[in-house]
Amino acid sequence: MIQPQSAPNTKSTNDINWGIIAPGKIAQKFATALQGVNGAALYSVASRDLSRAHAFADQFGFETVAADYDALISDPKVDVIYIASPHTFHTEQSIACLAGAKPVLCEKPMSINAKQAQSVFTAAKDNKTFYMEAVWTRFMPMLAKVREIIDSGRIGEIQTAQASFGIDVPFSPQHRLYEPKLAGGALLDVGIYTITFAQWLMQTPPEQITAAAQLGTTGVDERTAVILRYPEGQLLTLNSAINSKSNHEAWIFGSKGRIKMSAFWQCQEIALYPDGADGEQEIIKIPHRINGYEGEIEEVNRCLRAGKIESEIFPWSESLTVMQIMDEARRQIGLRYDCED
Ligand SMILES: NC(=O)c1ccc[n+]([C@@H]2O[C@H](COP(=O)([O-])OP(=O)(O)OC[C@H]3O[C@@H](n4cnc5c(N)ncnc54)[C@H](OP(=O)(O)O)[C@@H]3O)[C@@H](O)[C@H]2O)c1
Repeated sequence: MIQPQSAPNTKSTNDINWGIIAPGKIAQKFATALQGVNGAALYSVASRDLSRAHAFADQFGFETVAADYDALISDPKVDVIYIASPHTFHTEQSIACLAGAKPVLCEKPMSINAKQAQSVFTAAKDNKTFYMEAVWTRFMPMLAKVREIIDSGRIGEIQTAQASFGIDVPFSPQHRLYEPKLAGGALLDVGIYTITFAQWLMQTPPEQITAAAQLGTTGVDERTAVILRYPEGQLLTLNSAINSKSNHEAWIFGSKGRIKMSAFWQCQEIALYPDGADGEQEIIKIPHRINGYEGEIEEVNRCLRAGKIESEIFPWSESLTVMQIMDEARRQIGLRYDCED
């Protein structure tokens, strides 16, 4: 039974015991954040390779290691599991945790398609157990600031917006980003941030989705562009790539002004142009308290202490809409993964 949080900066039996499945690259950043979050304990790690679990546990100060993933799920002292494996394992591992009544924070994309995502939500509901997709972007304090500016009317009505997330990863057919068996490609890995940005901004599903892509030699989308049209005619242009770097900006263009969000998926700085092209530029900075992953961890802790199975800040319906948009985009660009058949 999870108890109310202990006083800040004190280790307590009321701390929430976190376990990690698949201690790879992103898990390292996550564990760094976990070290700095009050009320969260680094409890256990599970890897397919026990020596990797031990090395990770020693590096970050976890209390113990599990013999394997199943042992982590069945450990009664584990309060919540963070899943950090490649995309194709997320659905199955989430459902295994939920079936064992273990709350889950699972890396993005939560599944490969909307049908798989629905099966995860069903498992969470059936087992009355918390589930959230780990989209750290949704918990950046800057999002609340941008929303406040939009709601204040300073940039007027939203007319268009754009977001771009392109990285340049040297080609290797073994790299998970180029490997179709691991559901590689730009859209599911980095494009998801642009779609999540769109969904957060517009708060309603688009009425038209148009996608184009450059598929590479392994068959995955190396570059994808998506245009979303919303009911009042707003147009959002979203670009992603795994073989070409972009400026990583999001822009929101309103009838009276505009906002530039730098490195929008981990945004710590925005520029506000309240009076159109000729207006003065106002810079607003909100730095991460740790490394940016603290927000999603704190939200999970808050939800668990409140006995919730879903976050109202980042509800399942939002993850599902993002997945449905990506399903339609992939249908249009002709990208289907073997694991979907
Ligand atoms: N939120 C973010 O900012 C962010 C950033 C990067 C990535 N991600 C997401 O995090 C996930 C992992 O990305 P990553 O870059 O951390 O991956 P990674 O380092 O390549 O792999 C993570 C772990 O997954 C397991 N794994 C790797 N390849 C596997 C395979 N072929 N079969 C089964 N298990 C395998 C391994 O765990 P074991 O030790 O158990 O073998 C590995 O340590 C992806 O879904 C990605 O979208 C999120």
